[in-house]
Amino acid sequence: MSKILVAGGAGYIGSHTVKELRKQGFDVVVFDNLSTGRREFVRDAELIVGDLEVKDDIRSAFKSQNIAAVLHFASLIQVSESYIHPRKYYTQNLTSSLNLLDEMLEAGVRNFIFSSSAAVYGIPKQIPIPEDHPLDPFNPYGQTKFFVERILQDYDRAYKLKFISLRYFNASGADPDGEMGECHDPETHLIPNILLSVLGRKENLDIFGTDFPTPDGTAIRDYIHVTDLANAHVLALQKLMASPRSEFINLGTNRGYSVKEVIARAEKITGKKVPVREMPKREGDVPVLLASKDKAERLLGWKLRNSEIETIIETAWRWHRK
Ligand code: UFG
Repeated sequence: MSKILVAGGAGYIGSHTVKELRKQGFDVVVFDNLSTGRREFVRDAELIVGDLEVKDDIRSAFKSQNIAAVLHFASLIQVSESYIHPRKYYTQNLTSSLNLLDEMLEAGVRNFIFSSSAAVYGIPKQIPIPEDHPLDPFNPYGQTKFFVERILQDYDRAYKLKFISLRYFNASGADPDGEMGECHDPETHLIPNILLSVLGRKENLDIFGTDFPTPDGTAIRDYIHVTDLANAHVLALQKLMASPRSEFINLGTNRGYSVKEVIARAEKITGKKVPVREMPKREGDVPVLLASKDKAERLLGWKLRNSEIETIIETAWRWHRK
């Protein structure tokens, strides 16, 4: 039976997707260098420890397995770090994607699901953001996702590579069974940072920016539960394999919460006060990001199940306490 190769399948979103793929009966091989991923997150899938910067590692993975499609999660993800170390971002995010695509084509594999980002849009001119909104990334991280999307379009035209590029909004929450969750090092994301501050593992929760043009002055984001994201990947893969056609699809909820609103809900759920400290804006942060989810619903038949903000915070809280 042919298998699905998941690059970065030991990471946060990758591991949740692997779990969902296994549930749906897919045979999965995870390819991960374990630099940020965790071995214990790869539960009942095969793991190949390899590096996307090393073409021989990728080539031997394709040689030893019968691969039908590739999902690519492996990437650096911190917007603010990408400002300070653009070289690291351009090098790693682009090289790893190019190497992977190159070896896929060598092996004759032409189905590809890419982890893209809302960061490709830059400062939105329209809210909620539809997929045909102009692309104008505001930070080097977003640029790397934008460039890979451009490469994919050229590879489709020239080599018949078929892809679905999934543009995530704010991935959050944890596996409802408590098997996996979010743990970046350093942690930069809002919800885990709130929970770490409540648990006393961080002294303060820094609110980055209180003078955004929003009702309470803090930035608004579209938080989407990681298991809803995982489910969308499975639907996208099924769609791509049944009728190969390249697409760009937003994954978000069309609803937004400000930083202060998320803090208030977290205080209610944890029963604890969040020790906030107001700080200047982080470089590269935009005031509002909200997805139009119409295309995902229409094209993939996707339904949100866990993305109520309370469910997101509750599942993350259960994971963080553990
Ligand atoms: N924030 C804080 N304090 C923190 C962490 C975050 O105030 O400790 C604020 C941020 O300034 C931002 C919001 O909370 O306004 C959300 O921040 P996150 O770091 O959780 O997420 P971002 O929106 O910055 O970025 C995330 C992903 C990116 C992706 C983007 C797309 O990390 O990879 O969503 O929506 F590009």
